[in-house]
Amino acid sequence: MPPSCGDSLVLGIETSCDETAAAVVRGGREIVSNVVATQEEIHAQFGGIVPEVASRRHAELITVIVAQALDRAGIHWPELDMLAVTRGPGLVGSLLVGVSAAKGYALATGLPLVGVNHIAAHITSSFLLAAGDHERAPLDFPAMALVASGGHSDLALVDGLGRYRLVGFTRDDAPGEALDKAARLLGLGYPGGPAIEREAAQGDPQAVDLPRPDTKQGFEFSFAGLKTALARLVEPAGLEGCGYRVADLAAAFQGAVMDCLVREAIEAATHFRARQIVVAGGVAANLTLREQMTAAARREGLTAYFPPRELCTDNAAMVAAAGHFRAAIHGPDDLSMEVDSALQLPA
Ligand code: KG4
Ligand code: ZN
Repeated sequence: MPPSCGDSLVLGIETSCDETAAAVVRGGREIVSNVVATQEEIHAQFGGIVPEVASRRHAELITVIVAQALDRAGIHWPELDMLAVTRGPGLVGSLLVGVSAAKGYALATGLPLVGVNHIAAHITSSFLLAAGDHERAPLDFPAMALVASGGHSDLALVDGLGRYRLVGFTRDDAPGEALDKAARLLGLGYPGGPAIEREAAQGDPQAVDLPRPDTKQGFEFSFAGLKTALARLVEPAGLEGCGYRVADLAAAFQGAVMDCLVREAIEAATHFRARQIVVAGGVAANLTLREQMTAAARREGLTAYFPPRELCTDNAAMVAAAGHFRAAIHGPDDLSMEVDSALQLPA
């Protein structure tokens, strides 16, 4: 069956960071199975991701996770139409495990293989039909996509599924990275985003004055100055002696990060006359971001769509879906396809 076929079954594989994941998706939009093994607990001991540990764990898990994804889907290898795997951006050792496994499966089964951009995959997650009452984004283009995660802070204009133009990025830290660093400063543990969100729920974002860095350069983000501003408040006298409540610091920091994300996404959406906004990546799980973006979009006559929380963080359903749409436009890749740890849209 050609990969562009409407209801083709694609097996997706994701190992770009610290989640080992496999999933089966039908027609690019319907999740049949979605298995994610997170390494969060392993890396929490180190306060962040240790690349060598991540790739070793991917190698241990990948075949088990792929077998589980097929099993839960009730699908056998001959019923699949294509394999899709994240080939970048990400940690090179981690990417290599997924891409090598996918090539092995392609050789053994004769299935076509498509290499996927992890950012394109995150964008696709808003368009997936998932369980629960979440509303997936309609196929209404152009859409403005914000991908906010631990490694990325990208704004992309979506001309259609599989057609992306990068229009904004971060000059320094990604928002998830900034939240992870702030959580460390505040003694809140890893991963920082959820830890800050929990703490911030008890705090007052107005109790601490933090900047909203604006590069004034197109739709670029910059979060390094914000982290430095927090460090200046906390480090001289330490957390105990700084005169602020940790909950207030967490709420103020979260508020500042989300304000910057909302400001640039809305400006970009209106500039490019987008018909809707889709927000994805780990930080899209944040309720403050969801509320603020939804309200700001509404003021512009737009709707903001978010994937359900479990599809915000890394998963392979989004990879299978992105592979489906990529192959429909560009066809599959050959087995000489390589990982690219710095891969950028539109590739
Ligand atoms: O997309 P993702 O799973 O991996 C990357 O591609 O980076 O995103 C992980 C990032 C981490 O920095 C984590 O702190 C952040 O997403 N994150 C959150 C929340 N859940 C995860 N940030 C804010 N609020 C959350 N609820
Ligand atoms: Zn990601």
